[in-house]
Amino acid sequence: MGSFSRRDFMLSAAAAAAGLGLAGCAGANKILGKSAELPAAAGGFKDITSKPIPLVRIAFIGVGNMGSNHLRSLVKMKDHCQVTVVCDIAPALTARASGIITKAGHPAPKVYNGPQDWQRICAEEDVDLIYTATPWDLHVPICLAAMENGKHAASEVPIALTVEDCWKLVETSERTNRHCQMMENCCYGRSELMVLNMVRSGLLGEIIHGECGYNHDLRDVKLYNTPYKEEGKWRWKFSRDPKTGNLYPTHGLGPIMNCMNINRGDYFDYLVSMSTPARGMNLWAKEHLPESDPRRHQNYQAGDINTSMIKTKKGYTIYVVHDTNTPRPYTRINMVQGTKGIFQGYPDKIFVEGRTPMKRTEQGYLAHEWDDITKYVAEFEHELYKKYGGAGTGMSHGGMDFIEDFRLIRALQTGHTFDQDIYDGVAMSCIVELSSQSLSNRSKAVDFPDFTRGAWKTREPLVMADF
Ligand SMILES: NC(=O)c1ccc[n+]([C@@H]2O[C@H](COP(=O)([O-])OP(=O)(O)OC[C@H]3O[C@@H](n4cnc5c(N)ncnc54)[C@H](O)[C@@H]3O)[C@@H](O)[C@H]2O)c1
Repeated sequence: MGSFSRRDFMLSAAAAAAGLGLAGCAGANKILGKSAELPAAAGGFKDITSKPIPLVRIAFIGVGNMGSNHLRSLVKMKDHCQVTVVCDIAPALTARASGIITKAGHPAPKVYNGPQDWQRICAEEDVDLIYTATPWDLHVPICLAAMENGKHAASEVPIALTVEDCWKLVETSERTNRHCQMMENCCYGRSELMVLNMVRSGLLGEIIHGECGYNHDLRDVKLYNTPYKEEGKWRWKFSRDPKTGNLYPTHGLGPIMNCMNINRGDYFDYLVSMSTPARGMNLWAKEHLPESDPRRHQNYQAGDINTSMIKTKKGYTIYVVHDTNTPRPYTRINMVQGTKGIFQGYPDKIFVEGRTPMKRTEQGYLAHEWDDITKYVAEFEHELYKKYGGAGTGMSHGGMDFIEDFRLIRALQTGHTFDQDIYDGVAMSCIVELSSQSLSNRSKAVDFPDFTRGAWKTREPLVMADF
């Protein structure tokens, strides 16, 4: 396999990193040993590395809600990157994007507004990175066009909606030696980073089970429409198909994957999935949309709550839920259960055997109560949050988007491998199709494709060291 023909190189790159005082420990991001890019290789797993780029030039496609969040982060990184091109089919949004860029003291970007302009941008613009935060069905074509034209690609979540498209992304990244990162910001949340530290330190013991999800009442977002509510124009359409399973598995799963070393020592084996009946969107449309709105008369058939269980190759289990159609507060659950304790989010709490105080009930039973998480912060706060959490203060999603974007740009600037590579992006995104296959077949178990082609067995757990 391609990976193992490159094994010697990877070891020397890790050694070089150690010699430079960089992240030389096992599982740390690797850097390219020589100042030349690797030649394009025939298929096979590949830890993508590329020549360091002193100032990363970016074309940003889709500058709506999330795209503008990323822009606000990127413009703060003056010594690291510059957004030189912006594109959106809504001229008001490219105007807003230009304003964000120039207000931060950068030169005005070149602006595109055509629906197919992303193709020209990928082919003609002299940039290093194509970054897309467009609706879901554009992620794959834009990433493929970027890589085929020698650019690195970064995409919002999910990066693909089908297994076939996942393979296209993997094979193109390997062949062109271009990075293709799915931007899973939740891996950089303060709590998620802290839990990763706890897991790595052994505080929770062997991690045997995780629970996660995306429970976010989006009925209003999906069926709302103003010039600045672009999401309302596309997201609702995905709620119509009865075969729809988990459309958005990545926010909950990304951090759990890191804790459970998926793609790095373990991998998803198979999944079973089922959904409730579809009620939420139909009721909401009837209650909130006028007779004249065609969306009021749609039959929304995607089940409101989709639940999947994943078994990993090592026998561990993960529960993943998706619900954007019922009235409820937001949660990604973020639960990690180990042999010595448990962490659970929303709100954060912990129980560690031998550390969390326990009392006996009047009947003599041991009573397990949640411990106060603040008692653990000083010991387990992640290095990345300590260093960059402040810079993200007041920014989108509690600052995790800033840390995520900074890691992406710094990896390109320094030539390190990414925290989340193409194999991680597709391992999560393929659940969109696998959950659909399973629920359409009486929850029959569906095998995960092994996008790494066995390399997961020997890869080291991820260490997100600063670089
Ligand atoms: N990571 C997160 O926390 C997070 C949060 C929200 C959304 N997202 C993701 O971000 C992406 C965008 O979601 P959003 O909420 O920003 O939606 P949005 O509708 O606000 O933004 C999408 C933008 O793409 C533009 N667009 C559509 N077709 C285009 C084309 N052909 N060329 C150029 N631009 C085009 C739209 O005009 C719009 O401005 C989705 O993948 C979504 O899942 C991620």
